[in-house]
Amino acid sequence: MRFLPALLGAFLLLIGIVRRAEAQPSYKTDIAPLLQKRCVACHTASSEGRAAPFALTSYADAARRGRQLVQVTQTGYMPPWKTTTPGFLHQRGLTEPEKDVIKRWVDSGAPEGASVVSPSQKTSIPVPAWPFGKPDLILTMPDTYPLAANTNEVSRCFVLPTGLTQDKWVRAVAFRPSNPRIVRFASLYLDTNGQGRQQQALSGSVGFYAFASGIRPLPQGTLADWSVGADNMPFLSGVAVKLPRNSDLILQVRFQPTGKPETERMQIGLYFSPPQKEMVTLRLGVAELYLPRQATATQTDEYTLPVDSLLMEVTPNFHPVAQKISVKAESPEGKIQEILEIPDWDAAWKQAYRPETPVRLLRGTRLTLRVSYDNTEANPRNPWKPSHRVVPSLEFMEEMGSVWLRLLPVRPEDAATLRASLPVKPRSSFDIDELEPEGKPRPRPQPGPPVKTQPAPP
Ligand code: HEC
Repeated sequence: MRFLPALLGAFLLLIGIVRRAEAQPSYKTDIAPLLQKRCVACHTASSEGRAAPFALTSYADAARRGRQLVQVTQTGYMPPWKTTTPGFLHQRGLTEPEKDVIKRWVDSGAPEGASVVSPSQKTSIPVPAWPFGKPDLILTMPDTYPLAANTNEVSRCFVLPTGLTQDKWVRAVAFRPSNPRIVRFASLYLDTNGQGRQQQALSGSVGFYAFASGIRPLPQGTLADWSVGADNMPFLSGVAVKLPRNSDLILQVRFQPTGKPETERMQIGLYFSPPQKEMVTLRLGVAELYLPRQATATQTDEYTLPVDSLLMEVTPNFHPVAQKISVKAESPEGKIQEILEIPDWDAAWKQAYRPETPVRLLRGTRLTLRVSYDNTEANPRNPWKPSHRVVPSLEFMEEMGSVWLRLLPVRPEDAATLRASLPVKPRSSFDIDELEPEGKPRPRPQPGPPVKTQPAPP
């Protein structure tokens, strides 16, 4: 028994050593692999065409920004990943131990460390010209778009004629911006009646401002979307989107200015496949939103599935005054399943979320959407200061306040039933639940992640 204290002592000593070793992470052993895994997909040298403003691929890059790395990772601002619902592909958030190791590294003076990095450890991810090999069809923006130095974030649409003489099935789309730093989002829409060409003819400059009513992301939703870091995901295997012959594609790009004049001429790569199953896009909450100044509001919508379906993808589309987004599914037996929860929406990080395995939803399942909005000045993301009456802006009219769910009927013969059941807008209801008398101060919200200052809208 007299060994016990000695043993205990040795044990404590050992823990102490382990602790100390743990307290001294080094760049080479701990930080470089972590940044490589979680950050470098966006933070590479500008020559590699990624969207983040600086590279995190060398010791100097990381050490120089030590405190900032701690701040953005502790608050969850970086890496950007807005949903708390588990089970999505390409999940990007950091675990608590990962956040902790960055903090301990910086706290201990950001040592580089002497251990040898394995030669196979690359410090940057090579970016192939086209992510899935050479596309079957490459479409290039007809002209180069000039982005002024000091404009606000702007949306612009460009017509891309396909010139196809036969119907095609698209299994993947790749976006290749020429200047990724200025591209925040891009979406491709189908135009089968030449509306885009008419708009372009009227515009008199490169591209046009907004959709005419004839171009709609229906019935399949957008053909594909691109967002910072969530770029170029192939469609799921066995699924494709039909592209009718003679159709045009409309490329809608949201540009972010850099303070100097920039240009963009994007290319789109299309990958074809034999005919495949076609997804149907359900939009929850498409009604237009008018929000008085200094108001908060809740939007709800619901839809009941007429046939057994698989949920393949879910994409929230909201503006900066949206705050919390919740999509749930209630099975016919009353079992409630979380589909997508975003407790702290940030329009800058809009993206599509894809379940690791498609979610099976039985016929009779009720899908519900609940969104809260805060149009007060206390909302740090409200671009309108002073608070302003929010109206659906033309260019985003179709997207204001909606979540798109891509569904695949379990039995292909149910596709028509599913499509016919899609709700016709306007539908969802708004409950404007708080109106502040002008000038009355509101309580400040809890400090959240750092917020990028939004340029004031026009
Ligand atoms: C999906 C792409 C993406 C990933 C992954 C990503 N970043 Fe970023 N990061 C950006 C972009 C884009 C910005 C520019 C700021 C903005 O647009 O909001 C940025 C900005 C930053 C900033 C500056 C923040 C500020 O206040 O200006 C830091 C620091 C940063 N990132 C660190 C990281 C770290 C550390 C990781 C990994 C743990 C990471 N990022 C992962 C895209 C990304």
